[in-house]
Amino acid sequence: MRDIVQVVPDTAWDASGDGAPTHDVESVIEDGGVLVLPQLRFELSPDEHQLLDPGVADGKAKNVSLRGSSDDVRGANPAHIDATRALMRRYRAQSMALVERLFPHYRGHLQCGNTSYRPMPIEGRVTSWRKDDTRLHVDAFPSNPIHGRRLLRVFHNLHPRGEPRRWRVGEPFETFAARYLPAISRPLPGSPALLHALRVTKSRRSAYDHYMLQLHDRVKADAAYQRDAPQRRIDLAPGTTWVVYSDQVLHAAMGGQFLIEQTFYLEPSALKNPASAPVAVLQKLLGRPLL
Ligand code: SIN
Ligand code: FE
Repeated sequence: MRDIVQVVPDTAWDASGDGAPTHDVESVIEDGGVLVLPQLRFELSPDEHQLLDPGVADGKAKNVSLRGSSDDVRGANPAHIDATRALMRRYRAQSMALVERLFPHYRGHLQCGNTSYRPMPIEGRVTSWRKDDTRLHVDAFPSNPIHGRRLLRVFHNLHPRGEPRRWRVGEPFETFAARYLPAISRPLPGSPALLHALRVTKSRRSAYDHYMLQLHDRVKADAAYQRDAPQRRIDLAPGTTWVVYSDQVLHAAMGGQFLIEQTFYLEPSALKNPASAPVAVLQKLLGRPLL
């Protein structure tokens, strides 16, 4: 297998000019790689430097976010709503231009998810083990079933004083899934309808979502795995952009502050290699359909 971290020298987001040599790299991320662009800087205007402050958030939410393809800002201190909206809209547009250039096969199939700005330091954040993203995990959401769609995420470290975003990444998805799947029971009959009726979930939780949540929880709860499983550290310096399928790559955020992130959803059928999707891998391991 090639190196999980693939570094490319691009300096431009869209396809204009000489700063955009990389394209057609779908297989890098579909194979579980982290595509790192250390020179792809997201520029802030002089005024926007004021937004590099945890006080930009309202203190209740840990992130400030722009919802889907709307202009709705959540989690911001009222004094900073307009400025954070402008910042996140620009990040969303540049991320879209970037993924359409890097992954032309996905054009017309990418659905825009949330943009999220995270001004809090990772260190010292008090959370439950289930929400603790310093533990290796794949992304899965208790209330938001995604029915097998892929989670493609574009991250950028905005730290103004040199602090890297410090990540760990783990073993390939199939190895990880094969380790935990035998112990996971099937969803209880009737539970998807009940969870939906009780508004615990926003739509019916598919069997796929059930297994992904179980994998997410079991790996986070397994202290021995967290310590001993194959893994490596990656430091992502300020000014670095990186792209990853976060439903596939085991990842943990160990340190850093001031991150911005854009999520895209994609149907597995739109992949270059649909067999690489977590849903396909889980179906193969379990020998039955999950959607
Ligand atoms: C995560 O997706 O688990 C956290 C990523 C980050 O905050 O760096
Ligand atoms: Fe995550």
